[in-house]
Amino acid sequence: MRIIKSVAEMQAYSDSLRSKNIKIGFVPTMGALHDGHLSLVKKSTETADQTILSIFVNPVQFTPSEDFNEYPRDFRTDEESARDNGVDVIFYPSVEEIYPDGYGTFSVVEGLSDILEGASRPSHFKGVTTIVNKLFNIVNPQIAFFGQKDAQQAVIIKKMVTDLNLNVGIIVCPTIRESDGLALSSRNTFLTREEREQAPLIYKALTRAESLHTDGKLESSGIISLIEEIISSATLAKIDYVAVVDEVTLQPVESTTSGALVAIAVSFSATRLIDNTVLPPMD
Ligand code: PAF
Repeated sequence: MRIIKSVAEMQAYSDSLRSKNIKIGFVPTMGALHDGHLSLVKKSTETADQTILSIFVNPVQFTPSEDFNEYPRDFRTDEESARDNGVDVIFYPSVEEIYPDGYGTFSVVEGLSDILEGASRPSHFKGVTTIVNKLFNIVNPQIAFFGQKDAQQAVIIKKMVTDLNLNVGIIVCPTIRESDGLALSSRNTFLTREEREQAPLIYKALTRAESLHTDGKLESSGIISLIEEIISSATLAKIDYVAVVDEVTLQPVESTTSGALVAIAVSFSATRLIDNTVLPPMD
């Protein structure tokens, strides 16, 4: 497994793979790898000839009140698990390599970036789309893998790829969960013991939403009230939003008959957790 830190070397390496018709699968991450990331790596190793994983804690996607300095970083452990799971290259640039002095170009997907997560985290998605666009230019993959847990991020990246005619296929992989249902996230390590005990209520609420939908109780307002009621029994949780939206436009829908994305954001102290489920269309 190679570790590449410079943009020029990464581009040259990708060019050499492309010239030999070697298909590149790309898994962008901010490190602190867990089984969610490794499920994306697995999918990439099954689908592509070489898997490139980037590790870059992207300062531009953290809002001023967020945890950029506190974000977990453990390159040695990440390197080991990348190697054990079949990654061919880790792209591990410094902040200066990605954003040199005088950097001034940003990619923004308008309309989708300032709602839901974007309403609470202004400029977050501008940072995500900027870095993902740059990484696509540097790594030049044929396919890239993202997790369904960050559903809005995946929708926004797909829209950027379409709008900018980027020649990369986006594969969205299922959320990986702990045995009690909590979605895996690098931020789970910040939860106190009591918060960790209460956090699975988010998934419990989502599964209740799925049951209501399957039972034909299709009004979004009823689903939202039920989820809020379940999560409010977690005394340490503060709900940011519970939304039932169209899977592509992310606009609220009144009924879930045609399917919908149910998205939740909850804070436990300074730790913000998000989760979602996609409800299928009803016949
Ligand atoms: O999902 C993440 O870990 C990040 O938002 C990403 C896509 C690696 C961009 O920094």
